[in-house]
This record gives sequence, C-alpha cells and structure tokens, in this order.
Amino acid sequence: MKSAIFILISAILLYSCAKKATNIVSTPKPIENHTTDNKALDTLLTYNLQIKPLIDKYCIQCHNSQYILKLNNYAQVKINADNGEINKHVLVIKNMPPKNQPQLSADELKMLAAWLTNGAKE
Ligand code: HEC
Repeated sequence: MKSAIFILISAILLYSCAKKATNIVSTPKPIENHTTDNKALDTLLTYNLQIKPLIDKYCIQCHNSQYILKLNNYAQVKINADNGEINKHVLVIKNMPPKNQPQLSADELKMLAAWLTNGAKE
C-alpha cells in the first residue's frame, strides 16, 4: 500500500514537472508585429525587436542627424520615451508623424504604448 501511494505521488510530481517544461517551451516569443492585448507579451517588447523597425518606417527620415530631435539609436529614443515626448506627440496630441505622412496602424500604436508602459526596454 505504501509503495502504491509513493508511486502515485511520484507520477503526479513527474506529470506536473513535465507540464511545466512544455509550458516553458511553448511560451510565445515576441513577434515583430505584436498585436495582442497580452500583458505578459507586452513585457517582452524591446527597442531592438519591435520599436526600431517602427521608427525606421515612420520617423527616421525626418528625425535623423539633421533634426533637433534625433531618434537614430536606442539612447536617443530612450530619452524621448522617458521624458514623455514620444507619448505626447505620437499617442496624445497625435501630431507625429505629421498628418501628410504615412501613419502608424492601430496595432502599431498599441504596441508602442505597451513598450512605453513597460519601461521602454532595449
Ligand atoms: C515628415 C517629417 C517627420 C516625421 C515623419 C516625423 N516627425 Fe517628429 N517632428 C518633425 C518636425 C519638423 C518636428 C519639430 C522640429 C524638431 O523638434 O525636430 C518634430 C517634432 C517631434 C517631437 C517633438 C520634439 C520637441 O522637442 O518638441 C517628437 C517627440 C517627435 N517629433 C517624434 C516623432 C516620432 C516618434 C515620429 C515617428 C512615429 C515622428 N516624429 C515622425 C518632423 C517629423
């Protein structure tokens, strides 16, 4: 009887460990166009994977070395993330990019907002 209980407990432990292991393996990686409202995925957003492509697409043609406000690299973008300028102009006033320029999609805006909220990680 004792050994039966031991086997049962071992089986349960093994099963739960195996389950955890598959959970780790199947955790979704951050994707380029992150469009979900998944808070756990939001914490994985980074400048290198998701935000730099956005800046390159919508901002860098103006905010390069010729402009007062530069968004050429993480350090320059991070300053404007932390001081609220990107939030203010892109998400609140919405005057960036200027109206006559290609605009961020709703999903891209959501992703930018989530990245800012989660500490504008590199
Ligand atoms: C067609 C050119 C153009 C594009 C595209 C553009 N901007 Fe701008 N942006 C300007 C100009 C011009 C100004 C005002 C001058 C300056 O600060 O360089 C400005 C100002 C800003 C400011 C305020 C700077 C300050 O000191 O007051 C922020 C923040 C900003 N832009 C962010 C962005 C972001 C983020 C994008 C992309 C999503 C973007 N802009 C796309 C031209 C552009």
